[in-house]
Amino acid sequence: MPHHVPKEIRYNFEYERRLKACFIGAGGHAYRNVYPTFRYAPVDLVAICDLSKDRADGFARVFGAERTYTDHHAMLAAEKPDVVFIVTSYTKDGHVQATQLAKDVVEAGAHVWMEKPTAASRAEVEELIAVSRRTGKNIMTGLKKTFFPAIEKLKDIVAAPEFGRLTSLVVRYPQALPAPDKRGDLVAMQSVIDHIYHPAAIISFLAGEIERASFEWAEPTGATIASLKFKSGAIGALHFSAGQSMGGPLERVEAIGEGSHAVVENGVKLTHYRKAKLPSYGRASSWIQPEESATLVYEPEFSLGQLYNNNMFTLGYVPEVLHFCEAVLEGRAVSKGTLETALEIMKLYDFYATTPHGVAAAI
Ligand SMILES: NC(=O)c1ccc[n+]([C@@H]2O[C@H](COP(=O)([O-])OP(=O)(O)OC[C@H]3O[C@@H](n4cnc5c(N)ncnc54)[C@H](O)[C@@H]3O)[C@@H](O)[C@H]2O)c1
Repeated sequence: MPHHVPKEIRYNFEYERRLKACFIGAGGHAYRNVYPTFRYAPVDLVAICDLSKDRADGFARVFGAERTYTDHHAMLAAEKPDVVFIVTSYTKDGHVQATQLAKDVVEAGAHVWMEKPTAASRAEVEELIAVSRRTGKNIMTGLKKTFFPAIEKLKDIVAAPEFGRLTSLVVRYPQALPAPDKRGDLVAMQSVIDHIYHPAAIISFLAGEIERASFEWAEPTGATIASLKFKSGAIGALHFSAGQSMGGPLERVEAIGEGSHAVVENGVKLTHYRKAKLPSYGRASSWIQPEESATLVYEPEFSLGQLYNNNMFTLGYVPEVLHFCEAVLEGRAVSKGTLETALEIMKLYDFYATTPHGVAAAI
């Protein structure tokens, strides 16, 4: 089954069955990128809860919710939703507010879609796995990068027999790691926990579980380069490129097979260098490859008012919400953004938090 399956998108009001939904959190990211996905999802937003009544009321006016609350327990008891979306932030001591909220929601009988990070420790993710299994309710984390069309297509390229095995993977993402004496402090590590979910989700999606890793650290910027060995036998590098310009594309993913490779630049431009012969060395007058081995380049057009060239789709926001809603409507478990993937990501987080640079560690 390919990962990249283009869909005909339905508008919210065209669905015959919609899920009764509540939302916890009326913050900036949710306003920009999560509530707007409901225009294209089978969701009937009935109520919003935020600690600030003004924000909840403002969001309800804009996004069409009927009621607002400042206490999520009161909302869950009164509304009895099918699903709850949680987009909150951090406690003062660096814990993830959504972790406890997700537990409260599934205990109240609803499925959860939550933003990353899922939690601030492996033990907390394991608790969520236990409560999700006991209640039979999904807890999905919005690992948006595994829903980018370019990354889904890259996964399909890597899985195709012509690519050979995935032998190495290099991911660049601008992130700083604090000084060694701060790496056990959740507040100092907040930016790492907030962002590691993005590149780690791509790495886990494409290459599976990591077996062993080590990293080097650049003191002036906090940049790191980690060398990874995957259980599959593949090798990889995760470059946390703090210090790069914020004025250009931030990210790059390069997957190498056996005689072919593919690159995703800036999340949208995918180049597939197919298996090809080197033109005869010292003699060939042209680099142009025959069509069957020519390079394939995929990038969106930005002329038409399409869905696919809107960040709701290029950045995976609608697809990740649809994945959740479809699983709930069909009574099955989600297969992306799972708690098991969150656990793998937290193992990588623990590696950075606890392993001195220059030392190899089992993951
Ligand atoms: N995937 C992405 O592209 C992406 C981008 C940005 C942020 N995020 C994630 O989104 C989340 C929110 O980020 P933000 O910048 O919008 O934060 P924010 O601080 O603007 O919003 C958080 C909101 O949650 C509310 N809240 C907290 N606890 C609550 C509770 N118990 N009940 C009700 N409301 C509560 C706060 O009042 C606040 O309005 C973070 O987890 C962040 O990592 C993801």
